[in-house]
Amino acid sequence: MYSIFQGKSFLKELDFNQAELNNLIDFAAHLKHLKQQNIQHHYLAGKNIALLFEKTSTRTRAAFTTAAIDLGAHPEFLGKNDIQLGKKESVADTAKVLGSMFDGIEFRGFSQAVVEDLAKYSGVPVWNGLTDDWHPTQMLADFLTIKEQFGTLENLTLAYVGDGRNNVANSLLITGAILGVNIHIVTPESLYPKEELIALAEKTAAQSGAKILITADIDEGVSGADVIYTDVWVSMGEEDNYQERIDLLLPYQVNQTLMNKTKNNKTIFLHCLPAFHDLNTEVALEIKEKYGLSEMEVTDEVFNAPYAHQFEQAENRMHTIKAVMAATLGNLFIPKA
Ligand code: CP
Ligand code: NVA
Repeated sequence: MYSIFQGKSFLKELDFNQAELNNLIDFAAHLKHLKQQNIQHHYLAGKNIALLFEKTSTRTRAAFTTAAIDLGAHPEFLGKNDIQLGKKESVADTAKVLGSMFDGIEFRGFSQAVVEDLAKYSGVPVWNGLTDDWHPTQMLADFLTIKEQFGTLENLTLAYVGDGRNNVANSLLITGAILGVNIHIVTPESLYPKEELIALAEKTAAQSGAKILITADIDEGVSGADVIYTDVWVSMGEEDNYQERIDLLLPYQVNQTLMNKTKNNKTIFLHCLPAFHDLNTEVALEIKEKYGLSEMEVTDEVFNAPYAHQFEQAENRMHTIKAVMAATLGNLFIPKA
């Protein structure tokens, strides 16, 4: 039997079941070992990979590029201003053309419908590198990092503290529900995830045994948490909202006082990055000037604490993206779990 993943796209987490997501996470851990031992793994030799980016990226672009090269494939970056997509050519037409030349396509952008249409019309596997709705490749890296730290994904609770309705919050909610990891979304009521999403997470969690909690109460939300996770308060495309978000989310800043509220001495900190934890960026300096804040979603103290694992998490983007590309395009032998 050949891979259950062959030819499949990775558009959102719900397209995969618990066994499949675990399979990809464990395969990524194996590929990480091969990389560390300098053992070649050219599962995609001779393949061409298109990397479409409407939004900016450091980790996702770097991870797809290096993972493709390690797999023996050729990655080609096609930025927003370099191609006709959306301006002079429809998504469907672009997809047909790219699918005739490339063996796989990564897309990062605004609309989930675009990544779905690329998959529908290109005829090749399409991987979602982040949309306004979901960030599925991030999830594989996050849960690999958690598994590395705790040795298991069982009986764990992740509390996401911050903007409760962005792509990363949506993805954590659903992925935790699939994998059986308890998810707390700790956010002001006006930033609660959409009702349909909460219902979907609860339905999914009923099968895995995960517990879902959506709360504005910080003490309740972080109590006992094994993982405290945060993301930027203003996501790409929402840059007009700084004042509103700062007002809403300042009480939810991940600082040492909040970390102490977990009352769990094994709690780790994660962040998908990039993070506003100091004044060493242009945007942070602008925020400081306009709103007087030197740190936003996470303090420098927490970011640099021994329990913070965001850079291992970032490295894991590469190993997990490699697993997704190899599994969906490499004709590998991966028996049904
Ligand atoms: N975490 C993440 O997706 O980072 P980039 O925006 O740098 O790709
Ligand atoms: N929520 C963030 C994630 C960045 C990796 C954004 O969409 O900008």
